[in-house]
Amino acid sequence: MSTATSPILVTGATGTVGRVVLAALQARGVAATAAVRDPKKAPGDAVSFDFTRPETFGPALAGRERVFLVGPPLVPELDALLAPFVDALASGPRRRVVYLSAYGMDHPSTLPFHRVLEGRLQAIPHLDVTILRPGFFAQNFATYSRREIEQQGVLFFPSGAGRTPFVDVGDLGRAAAAVLTGAGHAGKVYTLTGPVAWSMHEVAAELTRILGRTISYANPSYDAFRAALAGASMPPVLIDYFFKVYDMIARGLVADPTGDVQRLTGRAPRHPAEVLREGFASK
Ligand SMILES: NC(=O)c1ccc[n+]([C@@H]2O[C@H](COP(=O)([O-])OP(=O)(O)OC[C@H]3O[C@@H](n4cnc5c(N)ncnc54)[C@H](OP(=O)(O)O)[C@@H]3O)[C@@H](O)[C@H]2O)c1
Repeated sequence: MSTATSPILVTGATGTVGRVVLAALQARGVAATAAVRDPKKAPGDAVSFDFTRPETFGPALAGRERVFLVGPPLVPELDALLAPFVDALASGPRRRVVYLSAYGMDHPSTLPFHRVLEGRLQAIPHLDVTILRPGFFAQNFATYSRREIEQQGVLFFPSGAGRTPFVDVGDLGRAAAAVLTGAGHAGKVYTLTGPVAWSMHEVAAELTRILGRTISYANPSYDAFRAALAGASMPPVLIDYFFKVYDMIARGLVADPTGDVQRLTGRAPRHPAEVLREGFASK
């Protein structure tokens, strides 16, 4: 449990992003407290925290000067889920808040929740807010699509020939740790990407090399995508969510690598081929 000694609070600490942020802080020798629904699941110092239980906010925030804020995925009403916690930050003292948004979600035609949350946080005058907008995680293929890839030999995403600079989550963690521990980041927005923009054709070709058998890119139409996901009993609201994410790639809204990972971490971002090899070689 928390001793409330660390000034840094990391939300989502049992998840993909929160875990790498904690690890990157630890690599810098900086202590942080994990804000988690079940403190037993956290690796080190932890405090009970739930976006749906406002009574957990006060104890979790007591003594914290810096907060890494990440909301769970696949929640189309993420702005509503996080609103009570944003209100708690608004009525609290000056703090540094680093919010994990997403590349492309500031575009008016995409899912609105990150845009809404960015705006709400930036409008609170006494918060020093930094927005991190990572691209599509290069680890997503191993985390979420391993079965389709390994058992069916297919990448099933409606992203056309669009390219995007898949980012290594380790780079994301190192960039977040740099912002949480360094100076001069208030009011900044960083777009965190890998070094090259790849289409799903290139991902399929790389997976084919790694696995030693053909992995094809299905590139389904919206109707075929929807039918397949509906057939797997996915609710329409989530099918729409996924489609909008992949459609951003198809429309070229998230196509450009940036230098922000290098600028923040002092090292070149990892190549997606390296991350794919790590996720799929001899597993
Ligand atoms: N995947 C991508 O390519 C990508 C790209 C850009 C941005 N993003 C953004 O990254 C975020 C997802 O991060 P992730 O991949 O780390 O997700 P994740 O691995 O699914 O982890 C989600 C975390 O949120 C916690 N959580 C869930 N509900 C909570 C609640 N009510 N109160 C407090 N904590 C709660 C979970 O804790 P429990 O252990 O208690 O469940 C877990 O630690 C989303 O906002 C998404 O938009 C993702």
